[in-house]
Order: sequence, then structure tokens, then C-alpha cells
Amino acid sequence: MKLDKVQISHFRNIDDLSLTAHKSLNVFLGENGSGKSSILEALHYLGFARSFRTLKHKNVISHEKPGFTVFCSAVVEDGKQQKFGISRQVDDSCVVNINGQKSKRASDLVSYLPIQIFTPQSSDLLLGAPKLRRRYLDWLLFHVEQSFNLDFQVFNRSLKHLNALYRSNQPEQDLDYWKDMLCENGEAISTKRATLLNEHLIPLINANLKDFLPEFCFEISYYRGWEKGYSLADAVEKNRLRDLKNGFVSVGPHKADLRIKTQGVNAHEILSRGQLRMLVAGMQLAQTQYLHAQTAKTSIFLLDDVGAELDEENRKVFISRLNTSDTQLFITAIDIKQLEFLENYNDKKVFHVEHGQVREEI
Ligand SMILES: Nc1ncnc2c1ncn2[C@@H]1O[C@H](COP(=O)(O)OP(=O)(O)OP(=O)(O)O)[C@@H](O)[C@H]1O
Ligand SMILES: [Mg+2]
Repeated sequence: MKLDKVQISHFRNIDDLSLTAHKSLNVFLGENGSGKSSILEALHYLGFARSFRTLKHKNVISHEKPGFTVFCSAVVEDGKQQKFGISRQVDDSCVVNINGQKSKRASDLVSYLPIQIFTPQSSDLLLGAPKLRRRYLDWLLFHVEQSFNLDFQVFNRSLKHLNALYRSNQPEQDLDYWKDMLCENGEAISTKRATLLNEHLIPLINANLKDFLPEFCFEISYYRGWEKGYSLADAVEKNRLRDLKNGFVSVGPHKADLRIKTQGVNAHEILSRGQLRMLVAGMQLAQTQYLHAQTAKTSIFLLDDVGAELDEENRKVFISRLNTSDTQLFITAIDIKQLEFLENYNDKKVFHVEHGQVREEI
């Protein structure tokens, strides 16, 4: 999928911006505070219905404006055009528009545009909470496995009900029903994640890391969120008394994690910051490669401030690998000097960003 026309209104310092994107490579150059990251953040809303910089939607709405809108047309792999939009108001209401159909549920947008992001915070994938690593697997499953969305929704609903029952004074009521739902869907989520990781992603990640970090060998494994040798139903039962006391279910795929080790030690305890970023780059590239192999969909990759992230050689290697994977790239930098090697890429558009406006270089 490739973004074509993009329109952004009342988003941070962007009052009203329109651009037609290049199908392979788009470079945004501008001074600090000009609006480069805001453009990527607005595109991120089209793929995730949220920002990558703040949890509060209000913060991205331009000061003194009632709400923001981001809209795009995209060319799908079969050549057809689709249209997507999202707008959010200061009262936190949201309208999503998918090919003219309006919805109030932001999550309806999420499985359409396969957008990925690489920012100075990307090493949080290895340094941050397990939730970020679960999201790494789930993002791909939402895009490649149609049934995953339903498993995920039913599991979360069951977990919410079961936690509420554990906290209530009548814990027996409906308990078995929600426990069965939780276990059935929890096992399905877990099997899908483990199969994706072990059979598909690990070989791709290892192949990428041979190029990106040839001096290291990695062991990647999935911890499913409950004890080995037990079914989820048995693990829930085993922990029931303690969980009733605490008021929540403590085992299941909502506690899963991805473990990445090198030389027997957690990778983040050995690798330098730049090496960690290259590890994340290899993992994200594997997502793109798998998505493409499985669905023929190509991703849209947002690279924010890549000059501050990686040294020149690593920037070159990562961007050229993304480019050969047929992703559509949106890259920001303060100065073209950070991306000099892109001079060899004729197939691109360069945009100069100033005060929330863009001027295309001709
Ligand atoms: N809600 C808002 N309304 C208006 N302006 C905002 C809002 N939030 C942030 N800004 C301003 O928008 C501008 C653009 O910020 P952005 O982070 O996009 O800049 P940038 O070009 O990525 O800069 P850098 O090179 O420093 O990363 C900044 O001046 C910021 O202060
Ligand atoms: Mg920025």
C-alpha cells in the first residue's frame, strides 16, 4: 500500500498542509521545530489512530483549534484507490472515515494501513515494558491473520469481565463462562504469536542481523505468560486463590513477553545504544518482509530523525534494505548532509518544511 495524497489540518504547528507523496521515498528537511515529526505523527494516526509521542490526543490539536483532521488517498496493491481519514476534537470525540464510511470507533482504522515507525524512542522495544514487545507481534498478526482481531477482542472482553468478577463480592456468578472464553481465546492468541515468531520471524530477523550486527548471535524466544507444562485453564485455576485476593487474572497472553539474548545475557544489557537500534531495525525489517511475503502488502515506513539515531553506514544499510523491500519511506532530517547517500536515489521527492508548511523541491 502506498500513500498518495495527504491532507493535514490543525495538527500541532500545521495549519493546513497538502502533499502528494512519492511511491518510494519521501524526505522531509527542516530546522528544529519546523514540523517534520508532526507530519510523521499525523501519518501515524492513519495507521494506529494514536500518536507515537503522547497518549493525549488533545496535545496534538493545534492550540485554540477545535480539532484536527488527517486524510489520505492510498493506492492498494491491486492498483485500486482507497481513502482513509481521522479527525479528533478537543472533547475527545473521534470520527474515522474508511472509503466514505464513517465510524466513531478509532480501532476500525487500525488494520488497513500497515504503517511502521522508527524514531529515537524505538529502542524502547527492547528497553521498555513487555507490552511493547507484544504489540510488535500483534501488529503483524492484525495485518496477516484475519481471525486474530476477533480472538484479541474476545480475550480482552473476557479478561475485563473476569477481573471485575474477581473483585466483586459474588465471584462465582458467570465465572466459568468468562473463564472458558478467556482460556479458549488466550490459547489461540498464544499459538498464533508463537508460530509467527518461531517459524517466520526469527529466521528473517537472524538473516537481517547477520548484515546489521555480524559480530553477535541472538537467541530470541517467546514467553507465553504462564507456566510451562500447563494449559491456560489449569494455570488460571492454579493461581485462582491468589488472583481472587488481588482482584485480577495474573496469567495469560496479556503477560507474555519476547526475550532477546546474546551470549546468554539480555541483549539490552550488552549492546550499545546504536547496536540496540540496529537490532530494532532488523526486527522491524523482518515485519515488513513477512507482511510482504504473506499478503503482498507493502508497509509504509516512517523514519524520524534518523540522523540522530544511527551512524552513516547503518543509516545507509537500513534505508537501502527498506528501499529494496518495496516499502514507502517517509524520512525526516534536519540537514540533507545526514542523508547524502540518498543522492544516488533518483526515485524520490524532497520536501522542505518551514513553520508547518511544505515546499517540494523541484
Ligand atoms: N498543539 C500544538 N499546537 C501548535 N503547535 C504545537 C503544538 N504542539 C507542538 N507544537 C509546535 O509544533 C512545532 C513542530 O514540532 P515538531 O516536533 O514537528 O518539529 P520538528 O521539525 O520535528 O523539530 P526537531 O528537528 O526539533 O525534531 C514545534 O514548534 C512545537 O512547539
Ligand atoms: Mg522532530
